Amino acid sequence: MSTEPSAARAASPEAISVERWVDSALSQVDRAALRDLLHAAFGDCFVDRIFFKQIPHERIVLRTEVGIVGQCGLDHRVMRADDGLIYTLGVIDLCVREELRGRRYGERLMREVLAVARTRSVDHVILVANDGRIYQRLGFSPLTAQVTWLGIEDLNSVAVLTETLTDEIYTHPIRAPHPLRIRHLDFLGYMF
Ligand SMILES: CC(C)(COP(=O)(O)OP(=O)(O)OC[C@H]1O[C@@H](n2cnc3c(N)ncnc32)[C@H](O)[C@@H]1OP(=O)(O)O)[C@@H](O)C(=O)NCCC(=O)NCCS
Repeated sequence: MSTEPSAARAASPEAISVERWVDSALSQVDRAALRDLLHAAFGDCFVDRIFFKQIPHERIVLRTEVGIVGQCGLDHRVMRADDGLIYTLGVIDLCVREELRGRRYGERLMREVLAVARTRSVDHVILVANDGRIYQRLGFSPLTAQVTWLGIEDLNSVAVLTETLTDEIYTHPIRAPHPLRIRHLDFLGYMF
């Protein structure tokens, strides 16, 4: 069995289960189902693999009677925030099967992310998105800051990049008392 049921696994009236997956322990069947989900949501970079830039540390996967309907990857990362360090949980490639969108499956996944983060040593949950609606509804705030990260293109490290980003990074405080308000954020690695 390649899946590891979450402690939070619970049947709803729609018989949804929440599972935690680790890529290195997946069966070929689960791997293929995940690849199909990611390919349909994000396109050709997922034709023959189940990650875009890097393998996530773990995944949260939603399953119903029709199979896997949504997922997001999680990445534990220490980052430099101005002169200090913050412990973050990064959210990667949140997606839901197109024909099942609008049923709050995406919100369910994100609520599970926040629940996981609250059981870990996490100061902030952090993610990168062009559209912040679903995240802001759940208490995420956009961050404007100068950001440094390792640029990866087509599975090649290309450069260390620094740019001022506005409304592309969203954060949610967990252990920290307040939303992240800083001038400079160094991802200390690739950007999710
Ligand atoms: C974003 C996504 C996961 C939401 O899944 P979902 O199950 O439809 O989400 P919910 O039903 O919980 O919430 C729907 C709400 O999310 C918001 N939303 C829709 N698309 C969104 C998007 N691409 N990014 C952020 N928020 C989005 C809207 O406010 C929507 O509410 P509305 O239908 O009343 O306008 C889904 O649209 C998806 O898989 N998109 C393709 C992949 C993607 O763009 N992922 C985000 C990467 S940052």
